[in-house]
Amino acid sequence: MQRFENSDPAKRAAGYAAVDEHVVDGTCIGLGTGSTAYWAIERVGQRIAAGERICAVATSSETQELCRRLHIPLVELLAEPIAVAIDGADEVAPDWSLTKGGGGALFREKAVALCAKRYVVVVTKSKLVEALGTFPLPVEIVPYAMAYVRREIRRRSGDLPIVRREIEGQPFVTDNGNWIFDCHFGRIDDPPRLDATLREILGVVATGLFFNIASEVLVGSADGRVLSLTASAPN
Ligand code: A5P
Repeated sequence: MQRFENSDPAKRAAGYAAVDEHVVDGTCIGLGTGSTAYWAIERVGQRIAAGERICAVATSSETQELCRRLHIPLVELLAEPIAVAIDGADEVAPDWSLTKGGGGALFREKAVALCAKRYVVVVTKSKLVEALGTFPLPVEIVPYAMAYVRREIRRRSGDLPIVRREIEGQPFVTDNGNWIFDCHFGRIDDPPRLDATLREILGVVATGLFFNIASEVLVGSADGRVLSLTASAPN
């Protein structure tokens, strides 16, 4: 996580604001993954150091490690009710549907989001889009079923580019021991429908489409200001 330190002040503004506005002493929270969630985690660490009693569920091994470093007590999913979860996103549509999983943590991020009472998304302006789909959609898959999943996605959605995510020539392995397909669907007008279509394929574990889940979207700017968005109804 060292790589995020001293970076983007807009991300820091959003991450800090989410914690300042939504995290209450004595509660359990969900902590996301990525370079914007990083700042929320750092802010929680400051509050723990100041004596507050907050515990957290981490959405990835990366976040887990950062929490340990900052002495943020960790609990298992739903060991405690999750008052609020704070996480970044790769794209935010006007109806607050999201693309997530650029960091590969989509499954755990979705599990935490589904368990949290409130779900606060922290982004910079660059993540706001008119429709999802410019960012390739991450889909977590069971490695054994790779060829079948690829065939079935194409059978349902056409001959789109589907790229297995790799690091230094090796498959990227998720915290759940799975792989990621980055799928280039192009514009996604109906995220719930596409999510359902993909999830009916054996071997698809989760998609990076999040919808009907965000309670608030906070957009940070480089000057430190943070804007809270108002959702518009789905098209
Ligand atoms: C992690 O898997 C993702 O879902 C991140 O939340 C998302 O990629 C946003 O990350 P950044 O805040 O680093 O852009």
